[in-house]
Amino acid sequence: MVRSDPPAHGGRLNQAARRWGIPREQWLDLSTGINPNGWPVPSVPEVVWQRLPEEDDGLAAAIRGWTGAPEAAVCIPVAGSQAAIQALPELRARCRVGVPHPGYQEHRHAWQVAGHRVRRLAIEDMMAGEAWLDELDVLVWIQPNNPTGVGIEPARLLSWYRRLAARGGWLVVDEAFAEGLDSLSLAQWAGQPGLVILKSLGKFYGLAGLRAGAALTDPHLGDGLSRRLGPWALSGPARYLMAQAIADRPWQDQAVARLWRDSERLQTLLAAQGMAPAGGSLLFQYVRHPRAGVLAEALAEHGILVRVFDQPPALRFGLPATEAQWHRLSATLTKVIDRLIASW
Ligand SMILES: Cc1ncc(COP(=O)(O)O)c(C=O)c1O
Repeated sequence: MVRSDPPAHGGRLNQAARRWGIPREQWLDLSTGINPNGWPVPSVPEVVWQRLPEEDDGLAAAIRGWTGAPEAAVCIPVAGSQAAIQALPELRARCRVGVPHPGYQEHRHAWQVAGHRVRRLAIEDMMAGEAWLDELDVLVWIQPNNPTGVGIEPARLLSWYRRLAARGGWLVVDEAFAEGLDSLSLAQWAGQPGLVILKSLGKFYGLAGLRAGAALTDPHLGDGLSRRLGPWALSGPARYLMAQAIADRPWQDQAVARLWRDSERLQTLLAAQGMAPAGGSLLFQYVRHPRAGVLAEALAEHGILVRVFDQPPALRFGLPATEAQWHRLSATLTKVIDRLIASW
């Protein structure tokens, strides 16, 4: 076992409430990239709570329909993509793994804890040729990346995949934030040996608490993953709600349209404050700023929680949900930035 401290995450409102002495319900939490206008959750029939989940309930086929994964792929429901992130490193003997930096830290952590040698990759280095791939057995890519929002054309990712697969390597593509950005998804290539695609219901559907997602992969790897996760990896209510949400095309279509509008609005709002985002996705904007930490603290004093990064210094803003929240963000940023500029 290698020592690796658990990564920090957004969304820790209880902690923020204690630290700043502001009651939980008064916070505007923009520290996650979760859709604030998520899928409306229906009630779950009693029998779904009472019976054991059954794997042949049609959920795998529903995942295929949702993602467009071909017949060659296996579609495995998982208790959030996090469950697959933690299980995948257990399926390989010790090897060399590349993870994006900056990037969702749980990938690095999970591979390190399982004893693999992990190399952090800057996007600039990844774009300079392909020779670096020959020093890796597994490459993890987050598409689009969290927190930078960088997306890589599928053709390039597939060429990296082929180079790794020729030596028995894997490409793991985390598509937690790819919903609504269909041209970025690799799902249509799922099923090829050593290609793993992770999907999440936590972000676009706003169902982070449900703990539901999917892994799309080849039958051999999928068999290892399913065995590792064991029976009933996803609760019956989670399977039931997941099947409904991923089949709800009318809701998905309006959500994509709304997220495009809202993400552009957030970009414009931040740019008007002199904080033009360096990147982003439909669900968050990424702002590089030398005094990111100071800004985040100042916003927190006003009850606005954002995610702060230190290498490089940056802030990540999620989407406000209501008009009142949009106005609160805009007015607070004006106040905070004016005050900080006067003191710098
Ligand atoms: C890039 C990325 N992948 C995966 C996850 C895990 O999400 P979940 O387990 O809810 O699917 C997160 C959560 O923040 C994330 O940011």
